[in-house]
Amino acid sequence: MLKLVSIREGLVEIDIPDPEYYTKERGYHDPAWLPVFYNPRAEISRDLGVLLLKAYVDIHGLERINIVEPLSATGIRGIRYAKELDRDCTVYINDLDKRAFKLMTRNMIKNRLEDRIVVSNLDANELLMKLHRDTTIDVVDIDPYGSPVPFLETALLTLKDGGLLMVTATDIAVLYGVYPTTCVRRYQSLSYRTPFSIETALRILIGYISRQAARLDKYLRVVLCYYHQLYLRVCVELYEGASKANEVLSKEIGYIVYCPNCGHRTVFRGYPYTPSPYCKNCKLKAILLGPLWLGELCNEEYCNFMLDSLERIKYRHYKLEKKLLTLLKEENYMPPYYYSVTEIAKTMKTVEPSPSKLRNLLVESGYKATLTHFDSKGIKTIASMHEIVEVLKHGR
Ligand SMILES: C[S@@+](CC[C@H](N)C(=O)[O-])C[C@H]1O[C@@H](n2cnc3c(N)ncnc32)[C@H](O)[C@@H]1O
Repeated sequence: MLKLVSIREGLVEIDIPDPEYYTKERGYHDPAWLPVFYNPRAEISRDLGVLLLKAYVDIHGLERINIVEPLSATGIRGIRYAKELDRDCTVYINDLDKRAFKLMTRNMIKNRLEDRIVVSNLDANELLMKLHRDTTIDVVDIDPYGSPVPFLETALLTLKDGGLLMVTATDIAVLYGVYPTTCVRRYQSLSYRTPFSIETALRILIGYISRQAARLDKYLRVVLCYYHQLYLRVCVELYEGASKANEVLSKEIGYIVYCPNCGHRTVFRGYPYTPSPYCKNCKLKAILLGPLWLGELCNEEYCNFMLDSLERIKYRHYKLEKKLLTLLKEENYMPPYYYSVTEIAKTMKTVEPSPSKLRNLLVESGYKATLTHFDSKGIKTIASMHEIVEVLKHGR
């Protein structure tokens, strides 16, 4: 018997293992220590998941949909989708762990959602293949421990043409260059520590999903991809079409060459392609990153729809969610990397400039520039490092 407590999130109330009881001996709390996983910090990802689903059904005029969340733990995510989506739907929730299966069943009953939810206790890939055979799936949400890679193939196969794929990754250290060998093995991509590693991590993940989709003659259209509190979230629509998949590979996938000597960044579009790993500016050996996604990180129509819904719903993290969506929209058409003010200060051997002041100075000097959701010390701009330094020298 688990020791449980009730919590509220969004429009639902569920039971979770009592964090006090299960972590008191160790003195602090980690969601992974609970007998069934529940992370309150992922509430924002679940809120945004609900808003995104609402946008998806509205934009595509869908009257009823089938959603699969095959790694459900307490069931919170799928239960929220079933409760908060104001359309007819069936939500398949599932977990390999027996205790999770029992708890999510209890939570489904607690929220009186038996007519909208189907619960199972299978391996996630087995469930996805079973659904692939038996029914049409509109939405798959993969929310694993660590990497989503073991579940991507079946998720890509199972989704209908035009379906929505939502994926979480928490193996950030691998994707942002702490373990380059693991990144090559797991994502077939080069990643090293740079001042904009978090963005590289997200772009490597999207690029990987796009290349996996292309193997199946499918291509993706980004709707919302972001980084928040140590997790990466990729939400894309998936379509069938071999020639369009070729086009996406050649236009949206590519590489970034970053020079640790002078801070210069160069973008190379196209896949497969091996750019010269030498800096275009100072000619020294630089760092090659990729293949990675070079396209947009969000779709404006989706963002606007989500912002409108958010105004009506006002979740408890409303302010943070509004800021995240607004910034994502602003930075959407900027280069696929950012500069950190720490890096700029090091280059200039001076104190760190304030990011908003630097943004204003750059804009006044005629360069497009925005803050970025990736890093509170980050600036996205079309100006090069050399140009940023010049603007700061004359504008301070
Ligand atoms: C990060 S938790 C899911 C959290 C949940 N989606 C949420 O929003 O709270 C990952 C879950 O996947 C389950 N799991 C791991 N491997 C699995 C597999 N191969 N098939 C099904 N479930 C699996 C674990 O038992 C765990 O409960």
